[in-house]
Amino acid sequence: MNSRRTFIKKSAIAGAGLSLAPNLTFGMGRDFTKDKLKVGLIGVGLRGTNHLNNVLNRDDVLVTAICDIDPRRIEIALQKIDEAGEKKPKVFSANELDYKNLLDLKEVDAVIISTPWLWHTRMAKDAMRAGKYTGLEVSAANTMEECWDLVNVHEESGTHLMLLENVNYRRDILAVLNMVKQDVFGELVHFRCGYQHDLRFVKLNDGKTAYGLGVEFGEKGISEAAWRTQHSLLRNADVYPTHGVGPVATMCDINRGNRFVSISSNATKGIGLHNYIKKHGGEDHPNVKLKFKQGDVITSTIETANGETIIVTHDCNLPRPYSLGFRVQGANGLWEKDGDRMYIEGVSQPHRWDASKEWLEKYDHPLWKKYGEHALGAGHGGMDFFVIHAFVESAKENIAPPIDAYDAAAWSAITPLSEVSIENNGKPQMFPDFTRGNWIKRKPYNWMKDTF
Ligand SMILES: NC(=O)c1ccc[n+]([C@@H]2O[C@H](COP(=O)([O-])OP(=O)(O)OC[C@H]3O[C@@H](n4cnc5c(N)ncnc54)[C@H](O)[C@@H]3O)[C@@H](O)[C@H]2O)c1
Repeated sequence: MNSRRTFIKKSAIAGAGLSLAPNLTFGMGRDFTKDKLKVGLIGVGLRGTNHLNNVLNRDDVLVTAICDIDPRRIEIALQKIDEAGEKKPKVFSANELDYKNLLDLKEVDAVIISTPWLWHTRMAKDAMRAGKYTGLEVSAANTMEECWDLVNVHEESGTHLMLLENVNYRRDILAVLNMVKQDVFGELVHFRCGYQHDLRFVKLNDGKTAYGLGVEFGEKGISEAAWRTQHSLLRNADVYPTHGVGPVATMCDINRGNRFVSISSNATKGIGLHNYIKKHGGEDHPNVKLKFKQGDVITSTIETANGETIIVTHDCNLPRPYSLGFRVQGANGLWEKDGDRMYIEGVSQPHRWDASKEWLEKYDHPLWKKYGEHALGAGHGGMDFFVIHAFVESAKENIAPPIDAYDAAAWSAITPLSEVSIENNGKPQMFPDFTRGNWIKRKPYNWMKDTF
């Protein structure tokens, strides 16, 4: 624990060519080593515990409060805090609305919300209204009304919201973003992305262990099976768009000089979860009779104001290795994650792919160069360190985060819009302009720095 804490300090000093500015570790203005950023965690399930680990590894954060309705999760969190040598935080676990009492605390500057999807928007709204710098897990919203709520409450309260989209900080994604910013691909034209992850054993389990065998969900399931599966049962929509579309939206400056204009979506039949239940629960298991509404493969095409298209895939109910399926294509060439290949006209052999490895190393992002070694242990290959790092540093300065309320709304809007489009055989649906025209003049966030 301590070795990782000291690492942040040491890496800031050791990084080749880096300035020794104290804010590399501790931010500007207030001295957060003495007067730490006081964080409350709402939801300490699997994801919230990962965030807890990452904030405990920092010496500029104090966990002052935790909230979860599951006493087993509270126990695990308290143990981790104790092992880290930190003071016991205030605990809120009385009922589903006890998080509001956490939000009343003066000793909470910022909150990290990692609860089931249906709680996200209401908790984020309450947190912003309480003036707490708000970090919200993905996806941010379930309906169009909730998307607008996030924007409206952010504007009314003046409180910042950061969507905690960790894939934006993946090493290859940030290297490709670096290539985009340095114009290696030329003018951008087309993207592919999505969430292609076999979640059958996440959506269904034995109610005792997450990722365990079993075909239960809802009240009989545990962790994500307790809540996520219900969305597959009742909604035919891309319910988890941000891991794919987040990185792409950043590359093509969505809400900052560009915007999503329309989307058309189609869904296949849904057989994957049914087959899995039959195979692992037997023909007679009551869940065999269920008809899951969600198609197994949902494909959406988004058009942007600047004339790009983005194909987004949601593919979570069939056997397959994990891939977010990225493709970034411009006037000069393209990167494809599947196949790990790159082609840049005039540099690559004509009509021959390069392995992407050398390209990605050459354009390694300054953040990864500086913090990479430390980040690797933080979860999801390191990106979880960076997303929390950006959140903490933005909250310390109370400045607009890299991924804000407008991004949360536009990216999450894919869920309700894809649902209506699928219902209407792929009929295009128009995105609202959550920035109310300001996308025309908003400047892109500066992603190309080595601080956060
Ligand atoms: N970014 C990523 O890579 C990533 C990975 C996993 C999960 N997630 C997201 O994180 C969120 C949580 O997922 P998870 O895997 O931790 O699920 P989980 O079921 O393990 O944890 C959710 C926790 O929220 C608690 N909870 C539910 N209602 C509550 C309430 N009203 N007040 C307080 N606590 C409440 C539950 O008891 C549970 O402990 C989801 O939105 C999910 O999409 C993101």
